[in-house]
Amino acid sequence: MEKRPSCERREFLFKAASLLGAGICLPLVLNWLQGCASETKQPTEPGGTVELDISTVPELQQVGGAVKRTFGNHNSGKPVLIIRLSETQFIVLSAVCTHEGCTVDLPEGGVIPCRCHGARFAADSGNVLQGPARNPLRRFSSEYDPSRNVLRITF
Ligand code: FES
Repeated sequence: MEKRPSCERREFLFKAASLLGAGICLPLVLNWLQGCASETKQPTEPGGTVELDISTVPELQQVGGAVKRTFGNHNSGKPVLIIRLSETQFIVLSAVCTHEGCTVDLPEGGVIPCRCHGARFAADSGNVLQGPARNPLRRFSSEYDPSRNVLRITF
């Protein structure tokens, strides 16, 4: 697959070509620019952060509540589990089973099950409780701001 330059680079090249009056074929440059409008910089870029207003998520109003969400391309576009561990503590885990990649279910009784082959993970850590998975669910760091009721997730 052809590796396309980033939107910033494409826009820079377009401006540079315009300023220099260089013999760059305009349709080629316009082709490079296609798709810039559809590319979202936040929150879909890997390595970024997302702020989640907890007041907008009914499932997270109670301790022990959990929800499965996707955030653009974060976690490779796969869902994460957000679990409320206490009034002020949350945990964010990838919902991708580390065995063969099925999406795990929401936790029940502190256990996150994977229905594909029966693996079970601890809801408060993502650690394996039962195989065949050998590795814990990937954990993303998160920080809860009680004054704003916002959870900041770092991918
Ligand atoms: S993919 Fe989850 S147990 Fe196999």
